[in-house]
Amino acid sequence: DASLPQKPAKDTPLGNHSSKKVTIVGMGQVGLGCVCAILNQDICGTLALIDISAKKLEGEAKDFQQGSAFHQHTTILASDTYDVSENSDMVVITAGVAQQPGESRLSLVDRNANILKKIMPEVLKYSPNATILIVSNPCDIMTAIAAKLAGPDFPQGKVFGAGTCLDTSRFQTLIAQSMDLDPKNVHGYIIGEHGDSSIPVWSSVRVGALPLLEPGEEPNDTLKKIHKSVVNSAYDIISLKGYTNWAIGMSTAYICKAVLNDTRTIIPVSTCVRGLYDVEGDVFLSLPCSLSSHGVQRVAVLPLTDSEKATFQKCAKSIWEVQKPIWE
Ligand code: LAC
Repeated sequence: DASLPQKPAKDTPLGNHSSKKVTIVGMGQVGLGCVCAILNQDICGTLALIDISAKKLEGEAKDFQQGSAFHQHTTILASDTYDVSENSDMVVITAGVAQQPGESRLSLVDRNANILKKIMPEVLKYSPNATILIVSNPCDIMTAIAAKLAGPDFPQGKVFGAGTCLDTSRFQTLIAQSMDLDPKNVHGYIIGEHGDSSIPVWSSVRVGALPLLEPGEEPNDTLKKIHKSVVNSAYDIISLKGYTNWAIGMSTAYICKAVLNDTRTIIPVSTCVRGLYDVEGDVFLSLPCSLSSHGVQRVAVLPLTDSEKATFQKCAKSIWEVQKPIWE
């Protein structure tokens, strides 16, 4: 009998059995990197793409859809209007202008804050219960603004930023390379700003289960250079290819996976640090956080050395200085 096997019943759909829906706002290079990583990791059942440029978006969506035979069939939707995002479990915002060669993330603040102010009401209108992940730069300030726009009734922790998840991956990778080991065996965090004033928490870096430094030992020049390379990573890549997108895409997919599966994985992400390490004000910075389906579930307040704590406070102050003029 050459006929095809019977179709599955309607309640057992073919392909990706996940009922989860993710929306990605902004189909620039970073947005595309996120889509690529999310599709290839089969994280959700439906992926909605939004961009202001309808024609380019149609092209990107078709291009992704035509790869459906090679993943667990995520349904891809695309539109230049937000109705397509309706009832998302998670919304990832990547829209905004990107750094030009030599430009800092903080210099994008005014332009991207204005873009975010247009996006957030639309996101909240169609998906009032979504967990919202901010990827646009400067990530920490954009996350603070997004949380403010979400309003006081929106659960705290449900808006958070990709923050230093990527910086931490760069950090782990470079330490591992210097020791010829697997990056997954390097446990340690970059905290603070996703950007120039990020802080390596040397005092708690472990390789395997072993501390990298003795208590009170300062990092040597090789280790200090590793942190410099982390800070320079995006500048370096932008000077070579014009933008960064693959590693931020992979970081975003990693975060989405934790949220959509409610895994409680600890990932450094940007969250409100008011009251922690004596920081005052609504400053968002990265600390290791466990992630649930509602976003940040708990913040791990690492024991910092006096100098790490002072650097964290300095970082909070410098972020607040940039955030203050647009805060009112
Ligand atoms: C980077 C961008 C995403 O660090 O800020 O690659």
